[in-house]
Amino acid sequence: MTILQTKGVSYFYQDGERRRKILDETSINFEQGKFYTILGQSGSGKTTFLSLISALDEPKSGEILYKGQDIKKIGYEKYRRNNISIIFQSYNLVPYLTAVENVLVAMSITDNQLPSNHQEVAYNLLDYIGINKTKADRLVTQLSGGEQQRVAIARALSTNVDIILADEPTGNLDEGMEMEIVEIFKDLAEIHNKCVIVVTHSNEIAKFSDETFYLKQGELKHYE
Ligand SMILES: Nc1ncnc2c1ncn2[C@@H]1O[C@H](COP(=O)(O)OP(=O)(O)O)[C@@H](O)[C@H]1O
Ligand SMILES: [Mg+2]
Repeated sequence: MTILQTKGVSYFYQDGERRRKILDETSINFEQGKFYTILGQSGSGKTTFLSLISALDEPKSGEILYKGQDIKKIGYEKYRRNNISIIFQSYNLVPYLTAVENVLVAMSITDNQLPSNHQEVAYNLLDYIGINKTKADRLVTQLSGGEQQRVAIARALSTNVDIILADEPTGNLDEGMEMEIVEIFKDLAEIHNKCVIVVTHSNEIAKFSDETFYLKQGELKHYE
């Protein structure tokens, strides 16, 4: 089932007189239960594309539909709060909170229906992702990079959204850890029926995904 669609989405940055085209009428359907990767050279516009589908920025033309509804109509803030989660290269955790507290904060913000025992759910989720109780009670700054990214993934999952976006999520991790994180993304799509869209410059990661797109000169094309 299609969950997210871009329809004729165009975007450019204005640099003085000059327009730098980033996306040229991009139309793509993303489905539930699939793991997508987006490849492209540095500066090709991958992060910009993610910022559009996560409603952090608005297309110059075209529309983005969530379950058939324009996200502008849903309301950008509401869409961000309830329908998507983003995972960043630099984790973006709250440094003065523990791992479990980072997850709890996210759970307290969403409007989505969650089980009432937040604490138990958060610990279980962290444990599932590979962060045991002892580590869950540590300040996130006292965890390794790979562990911090796991906390970020648990946080992304905790709010029960359908769409998980990630921007170079393994950019700061070594290779072994990279594959472990990729396995988690694969499970999120396969087992948990999420739509997972990961921006990466790793062909290795792309091999593990169901579908890969390549962004070049404004065009997002299927990549074989
Ligand atoms: N806020 C901005 N204003 C002007 N140009 C920008 C802005 N953000 C990004 N760019 C430019 O747009 C291009 C695409 O950026 P980005 O989406 O970050 O690419 P990628 O993530 O693929 O490396 C780059 O040339 C970048 O310098
Ligand atoms: Mg980028």
